[in-house]
Amino acid sequence: MTSKESRTECFVYITLPGETTPVTAGKFALNTNTRGDAVGQFVYRRKYLDDPRAVEIDPVELKLSERTYETALLGGVFGALRDAGPDYWGRRVIEKHTGRSQLGELDYLLESPDDRAGALAFGLNTEPPAPRRSFNQTIDLEKLQTLADALIKDELPADPLAQQVQDLLLLGTSMGGARPKAVVEDGAGLWMAKFNQTDDRWNNARIEHAMLRLARACGLITAESRLETVGGKDVLLVKRFDRDKTADGYTRARMVSALTVLRADEVPQVRRNWSYVILVEELRRIVTEPKKDAKELFRRICFNALISNIDDHPRNHAFIARGRRWKLSPAYDLTPSTPVSQERRDLALECGDQGRYANAKNILSQHTRFLLERDEAERIVNGMKQQVEATWSETVRASGVSEKDAEAISGAFVYPGFSL
Ligand SMILES: Nc1ncnc2c1ncn2[C@@H]1O[C@H](COP(=O)(O)OP(=O)(O)O)[C@@H](O)[C@H]1O
Ligand SMILES: [Mg+2]
Repeated sequence: MTSKESRTECFVYITLPGETTPVTAGKFALNTNTRGDAVGQFVYRRKYLDDPRAVEIDPVELKLSERTYETALLGGVFGALRDAGPDYWGRRVIEKHTGRSQLGELDYLLESPDDRAGALAFGLNTEPPAPRRSFNQTIDLEKLQTLADALIKDELPADPLAQQVQDLLLLGTSMGGARPKAVVEDGAGLWMAKFNQTDDRWNNARIEHAMLRLARACGLITAESRLETVGGKDVLLVKRFDRDKTADGYTRARMVSALTVLRADEVPQVRRNWSYVILVEELRRIVTEPKKDAKELFRRICFNALISNIDDHPRNHAFIARGRRWKLSPAYDLTPSTPVSQERRDLALECGDQGRYANAKNILSQHTRFLLERDEAERIVNGMKQQVEATWSETVRASGVSEKDAEAISGAFVYPGFSL
């Protein structure tokens, strides 16, 4: 194989519940069939299946079994594996770092550093390497921000061997999402740092922080966050809910996105299975406490509608398992938007009989699927509406959002169409 060819096979490692070092779970191969479609195959390793501690890497598609799993969805990469790989931002970092613009799906998995979301890792050796022990510290944030800025502005040298380009991997590229980010550590554990971009319409770091606070005030379970200002710029730090610090290193929770659970495709134009109603059906099958998590998902739909978060796509919801059991992950990536229409705004996923319409009646129309009685569902919707209406402004200000930015996002909250 030459260095320009894409790899077609790799081992999949997993850090088992409560452990801090990985074991080999199985093998993944990605090939092209005679029709020219990419087809992925996964098999669990015999030794892994015999291990009493073994857990499934995906609660829907890859249950513990001796069979050879096959998929042609998502370019042949099983959802759970794809969830552990980089997205737009991380791919950009890797392309710059490797000096190649056309990498295969497997290359993105293999080239990304081991700070990815969830419990999986990838490599070419039968046995996994030792886990990464050192991470960037919060003190390094200014350097990391400068590096991210230079990458966005395309101001890094073209030479893949240049020091700055080598330094890129410091950013921590394996986390998904499109916004510039890095993984950093402090005494409390690991955080995902999200940087502002110069062409942002408002101060995202402060506003996202405020939305997480507002969501908590509305009774949602969310990721913990805090703000740091480095080199005069604000950075949002979101505590990683898939890592716990122990004396021996980090334990890792398994994590799959709603995209994987829905067996959906990423392309927004298609939106096959992009539905909260289907998602809650899947959730009820997967999680240990269906009533609790279904209600939590219902609250999130209401909250997204009330802050016009129309970027609530299936990668912005996830399920995690710290031990053997799965549950809905804390909420993350909550961002307001201000579409022109005052009558109709659409969430990314269908949420009721009237499709994606971010509207109270629509959201209530499927309350039974969320295991809620009509009156309880109504209480949630009305209570949250009052809470958002009454407190969004003070919450945003308490997070240090400027008057100008508060004004700019004011149209996001409880838009008229919500109550039509
Ligand atoms: N607190 C967290 N702990 C662990 N993983 C997270 C956390 N927040 C987000 N993630 C993962 O990182 C990805 C990117 O984060 P996100 O906030 O959605 O960034 P972006 O704004 O770029 O989309 C998410 O899709 C999710 O898989
Ligand atoms: Mg996101």
